[in-house]
Amino acid sequence: MNQRANLKLSGQTAIVTGGSSGIGKACAKALGKAGANVLIDFVGNPAGAEEALTEIEASGGKGMIFKADVSREEEVRALFDAAREAFGTVDILINNAGIQKDAPFVDMSLKDWNFVLNVNLTGQFLCAREAAREFLRRGPRPEVSVALGKIICMSSVHQLIPWAGHVNYAASKGGVMLFMKSIAQELGEHKIRVNSIAPGAIKTPINRMAWKTPEAEKELLKLIPYGRIGKTEDIARIAVWLSSDESDYIHGETIVVDGGMALYPGFRDNG
Ligand code: BGC
Repeated sequence: MNQRANLKLSGQTAIVTGGSSGIGKACAKALGKAGANVLIDFVGNPAGAEEALTEIEASGGKGMIFKADVSREEEVRALFDAAREAFGTVDILINNAGIQKDAPFVDMSLKDWNFVLNVNLTGQFLCAREAAREFLRRGPRPEVSVALGKIICMSSVHQLIPWAGHVNYAASKGGVMLFMKSIAQELGEHKIRVNSIAPGAIKTPINRMAWKTPEAEKELLKLIPYGRIGKTEDIARIAVWLSSDESDYIHGETIVVDGGMALYPGFRDNG
């Protein structure tokens, strides 16, 4: 008897964008271990994507890696075509790919503004649109999930918290918040479930500067009431849960996973 047939996401296929490092890589591995076939999208780091795939396969799961820049319409189409070809359809999108290009506001170039908005916001639009089209084309599969499909947008605490020196990033995540809610409002009638995760400071390459020295880490911890920097697994667990029927009535919601960073900890002893 195939043990994997009873896993939470058995028989489903997930696409994880930006799956070669950080939060995306952890999500890819966790979804694979939860039984999903995982298409691991990457842009510049095939080795990271391969590592995730190797771990999924070692646990008895299936997947593949695929190179696609989420900000390019034709590459996003190719990504979904590849998923269809390999696994028949797509049930789950982890809309994760994201970048930072930080600069003081007055020095920020249009190029860096556009780069971040194109990947973090337009990329989520292109992938979510393709996912919704695929869910509608394929129709319900009640044997694997109550929902027609699930879209999980990787946002940030900076969809709420303004962030000086990172206005392109904060604007992109503020955009993701209303993008996610608007498509949730529109797609709910089709039983397409759409939600976001808003991570706080998770230890990944994107924020290395914020934790790489003990001094930096100490400063960062002042912003986290729960007293530790997040791990990618903290987010991956929630991504699996939000992808599963266990969270079936959650729709249009953002789950903040930040050790309390969004609680304005600067007010603990001030104000
Ligand atoms: C950013 C990180 C940052 C964290 C908390 C994330 O969205 O990508 O660089 O450490 O928010 O500020």
